[in-house]
Amino acid sequence: MVQGAGFGKCEKVSQSEINHQWEKVHVALGDRSYDIHIGPGLLLETSKYLKKLGHFTGPFIVTDTNVEDYVGQDLLNILRQEGFEGAELLAFEAGEQSKNMDTVVSLARSLVGLGADRSSLLVALGGGVTGDICGFLASIYMRGVDFIQLPTTYLAQVDSSVGGKTGVDLPEGKNLLGTFAQPRLVLADIGVLCTLPAQEIRNGIAEIVKYGMIKDGELFERLESQWWDVINLEPFTTAHLVKRSCEIKAEVVSKDEREGGFRRILNFGHTIGHAVEAASNYTIAHGEAVAMGMVAVSKISVSRGLLKEEDLQRLIQLLERFSLPVSIPEEITRQEILKNLKRDKKVKDGRVHFVLTKAIGETIIVDDVTDQEICMAIGS
Ligand SMILES: NC(=O)c1ccc[n+]([C@@H]2O[C@H](COP(=O)([O-])OP(=O)(O)OC[C@H]3O[C@@H](n4cnc5c(N)ncnc54)[C@H](O)[C@@H]3O)[C@@H](O)[C@H]2O)c1
Ligand SMILES: [Zn+2]
Repeated sequence: MVQGAGFGKCEKVSQSEINHQWEKVHVALGDRSYDIHIGPGLLLETSKYLKKLGHFTGPFIVTDTNVEDYVGQDLLNILRQEGFEGAELLAFEAGEQSKNMDTVVSLARSLVGLGADRSSLLVALGGGVTGDICGFLASIYMRGVDFIQLPTTYLAQVDSSVGGKTGVDLPEGKNLLGTFAQPRLVLADIGVLCTLPAQEIRNGIAEIVKYGMIKDGELFERLESQWWDVINLEPFTTAHLVKRSCEIKAEVVSKDEREGGFRRILNFGHTIGHAVEAASNYTIAHGEAVAMGMVAVSKISVSRGLLKEEDLQRLIQLLERFSLPVSIPEEITRQEILKNLKRDKKVKDGRVHFVLTKAIGETIIVDDVTDQEICMAIGS
């Protein structure tokens, strides 16, 4: 294992505080309901949670080559020592470029080789890429097997491990193949976040700012007042932020599992954000693009008289505190952004849906944003 990495060995958490679930969020989806457990050192207790899931074969840990080194091998050893002799680990090359059908097919063939059957359990150990690949694989392997999520990036803990969307990319675009599949359980061990590069932490923070903007003014205020603890991953602050984020996403998803309408509010800042990401050829990180997108739609909201200018300024200041960008770089051509917006898969009848904001914590979905308004907001 990499020195100092993994398993809740965050220096800021005392020994007596680790291995505890500090927070729990219930995702209410009828007979597919599940719990998200949040706390430092939870990965060390994985077998305790697995034992409650009933009979299965495996488990088969799916992870990427980075996380394999950080915590994957250790988790495998612990599970084998604690009664799961059939545990296996399958690793794919880390990075978004692996999120494709070739990886899925190669993992599926490895599963067959290892004797995985219809009663096997898959374990997604890693960031959003791993969660999406493993969830997708679980939903189609032998017509569907159970899986759990052990998210190890901030983004995965506050966003991608909740909600049941799975999928892989095609050369033509991101997430074009996918399914809805809910995990049996999520263990968000906040201790593993300590080894994340700053960029990955910012990606998670951008999503938390989004939750504050769409649904929770208090969460937004907490980010403002405790920004130092937020950046430094202070454990109690981090656990609270993961919990509130999961609660908000779970609440939205419970009301609208398959994105009929309400779930769209989760796209706040993402419509323009995705267009910017694509226009940059994915050289701009997701969190940065979302930050730019949130400012842009808030500008549209201000110009329509929905949002107060001072609230836009609060958003800008907060993002700047976290070193997140608030304007789109000059070199990204505005034409390309507009073209990408029209190509977005969420466009219906040629109309792009935008999530605007009426106040911090309150949104409104519209489909009549004009090109002029977009140009004003993205600064062309
Ligand atoms: N399914 C959904 O609802 C949903 C929502 C949002 C995003 N996503 C998807 O999530 C993906 C992005 O997720 P991501 O940002 O987690 O990317 P990622 O999974 O590629 O992880 C980012 C990097 O961090 C490394 N890493 C993971 N855990 C680590 C740790 N504890 N310490 C150090 N390094 C670690 C990974 O190896 C990788 O290099 C995208 O493909 C996106 O489409 C899905
Ligand atoms: Zn996002």
